[in-house]
Amino acid sequence: MSSTTVAPTNITWHEGHVSREERAQLLKQKGLTIWFTGLSASGKSTVASALEQHLLHRGINAYRLDGDNVRFGLNKNLGFSPEDRTENIRRVAEVSKLFADSSAIAITSFISPYRSDRESARKLHSEAGLPFVEVFADVPVSVAESRDPKGLYKKARAGEIREFTGISAPYEAPENPEIHIRTDQKTIAEAVEQIVSFLSKNEYI
Ligand SMILES: Nc1ncnc2c1ncn2[C@@H]1O[C@H](COP(=O)(O)OP(=O)(O)O)[C@@H](O)[C@H]1O
Ligand SMILES: [Mg+2]
Repeated sequence: MSSTTVAPTNITWHEGHVSREERAQLLKQKGLTIWFTGLSASGKSTVASALEQHLLHRGINAYRLDGDNVRFGLNKNLGFSPEDRTENIRRVAEVSKLFADSSAIAITSFISPYRSDRESARKLHSEAGLPFVEVFADVPVSVAESRDPKGLYKKARAGEIREFTGISAPYEAPENPEIHIRTDQKTIAEAVEQIVSFLSKNEYI
């Protein structure tokens, strides 16, 4: 089921009293979006959760927007057709941008298989002057399939799930992600460390 879009009229942007810089100073942290992409079972949610935990324990406000979770609410009217996947990512990009604008660290974990959708998410952030850090959770399909924590690959192979990324729907790997993690060659802790050290180096945290 796709949503219909009606362009609104008679709306005017209402500026607040607190600038982004002042907000960052008051809250003692800068906002940004950390965007995980990768096959199902590549480890997006696992590493994202560990990263969120690490940041929170350091007193940094971080919040996860997870592919499955968001489909229970905000995006529950969307399926897995190419159009719905694009709309799924568009909404999440907008929400993560709001989180980043609020000075939080938004951590998104969505397959987000289309390069153009991820580029749109990136553009949305760059136009708003907000950092966007793309993290490629990379494993060969064979590894993802052998993990299969939710039994989805098994179902996809049996033809019970149509349009399954990596099996019957495409995955367009990032060409130039800020962070590339082979989750079959690193532990979860090492993956978190790789991201945290990137964030420190760039003075995002
Ligand atoms: N180094 C690792 N990094 C991330 N996940 C790993 C790693 N090693 C094993 N796994 C396992 O792989 C699975 C990844 O699943 P999940 O995080 O739900 O993937 P996704 O959110 O990308 O679909 C989990 O069962 C996790 O325990
Ligand atoms: Mg997940």
